[in-house]
Amino acid sequence: MSKKTFYITTPLYYVNASPHIGHSYTEIACDCIARYQRMKGEDVFFLTGTDEHGQKVERSAEAEGKDTLKFIDDVVEKFKELWKGLGISYDDFIRTTEKRHIDTVGKILTILHEKGDIYQDEYKGFYCTPCETFWPKLQIEDNLCPDCGRALEEISETNYFFKLSKYQDWLKGYIEEHPDFIKPDFRRNEVIGYLQEPLNDLCISRPRKRLSWGIDIPFAKDHVVYVWFDALINYISGCGWGSDKKTFEKFWPANFHVIGKDILRPHAVYWPMMLYAAGIEMPKTIFAHGWWLAGGEKMSKSKGNIVDPFALLKKYGQNAYRYFLLREVTFGLDGVFSEDAFITRFNSDLANDFGNLLNRTLTMVEKYFDGAVPDEGAMSEADKALDEKIAALPDKFDQSLSALNFNQALVAVWDLINTANKHIELSAPWILAKNDETDRLKAVMSILLKTLSHCVFFVYPFMPDAALNVAGQLGMKITDKDMSLDKLKGPLLAPGSKVNKGKPLFPRIER
Ligand code: ME8
Ligand code: MG
Repeated sequence: MSKKTFYITTPLYYVNASPHIGHSYTEIACDCIARYQRMKGEDVFFLTGTDEHGQKVERSAEAEGKDTLKFIDDVVEKFKELWKGLGISYDDFIRTTEKRHIDTVGKILTILHEKGDIYQDEYKGFYCTPCETFWPKLQIEDNLCPDCGRALEEISETNYFFKLSKYQDWLKGYIEEHPDFIKPDFRRNEVIGYLQEPLNDLCISRPRKRLSWGIDIPFAKDHVVYVWFDALINYISGCGWGSDKKTFEKFWPANFHVIGKDILRPHAVYWPMMLYAAGIEMPKTIFAHGWWLAGGEKMSKSKGNIVDPFALLKKYGQNAYRYFLLREVTFGLDGVFSEDAFITRFNSDLANDFGNLLNRTLTMVEKYFDGAVPDEGAMSEADKALDEKIAALPDKFDQSLSALNFNQALVAVWDLINTANKHIELSAPWILAKNDETDRLKAVMSILLKTLSHCVFFVYPFMPDAALNVAGQLGMKITDKDMSLDKLKGPLLAPGSKVNKGKPLFPRIER
């Protein structure tokens, strides 16, 4: 039997600048899954937070002439403000400058050091500060970083190394035996590809004289920990490893580490080896999604081609923002962000399809039944067909969301919504009303109301605010706490109860 617990994580974002759409994408995806798992009755732990060490952050603070921690605190507030605006229901927010995290990093380092998996060596080579990556001479041209194209610094120094090479064969075997460990499959193949070549051991320290903004290494007082080695450990320091055994055993292993494809290597190579070396179980799935592109390039702080998430949120609201990102592109693939595509999606799916179904249905319930939910009446074959579609939705939806296939889940919901819209056209309630066919009119209206009341539940993980608004308009008295899939087993709307039509939820956007 499964544990009935569900642990999902986002990356810890760097705090060298404010969040952008790319960050919010991962956050919204994880929020959607966390909410859905809660609806299924799982005890969910949704962890997010910020990655606060390293040279990039230190230099950004310097550039603004601010004290490092003060600079970081301000950026963290920006992230928290955006998550609040987007309705992100995280259970914990971990900052890598917190004691609980620093202590855990120290303990893991000590374990690996005592085991002989960390050793000291001389490092000579080239270093990219923005990427915080070492490059061997063989891999570079013109002193430029092969990843970001910026100038490299030549350095020679003593450092500490983690024996990736020792675990390479083990990892290859593990990935081969666990097809769900790295998703999507084409990313899994990419990782298997990395493992075909012998791996260099990972440099996990930085000399303090060059970088002071990092976590102390218990056995090396002249060095601090490399920011990636520090940050990955959040996934266990954030759920109690080494301090709160009960919580750790309850939630670990994580069900999902959701990340962008840019950070696949540290998550799919370094992290599993760190865990294995420390004797800790593997997470179940590492899912790497694609990038939002702008002007043909990855949207990123360092490239300066970002879309301001606060402006987008202010202009279109939380619901449309969340919907667009999860509907527009298949999770795993890249997508191009444009405001034009955003408005097109909004007008067709939200204003036309969903908004209209709600509006037309409630207008007719007011007009024909004085705003009271009618009883089931005399169902036709077409009413029954719609009812069967309602009954089939939970399984389809579950299959899609269990695989993080967000747009497929939404396609299934919108298929129901559009079938209901067609049902209005075909059954023409206005003619039934004119002809006094009250039993038929009742049947049509009640199946439309049933469709909408079920949609509330399936729209909820994507657009919690809109879902509760629709529920309110339907006269369902529910809050976040009532959003359980068990509720779908019983009637959601009692005949005789009053609907409560409000302002249009998604008024068309004129360009
Ligand atoms: O890499 N499209 O932090 P980061 C889609 N601190 N997603 C994007 C994106 C884009 N254009 N840009 C960013 C780090 N993301 C490390 C992580 S984890 C222990 C440490 C999202 O601030 C995506 O999830 O650069 C990506 O992996 C992450 O933000 C990188 O955020
Ligand atoms: Mg990045």
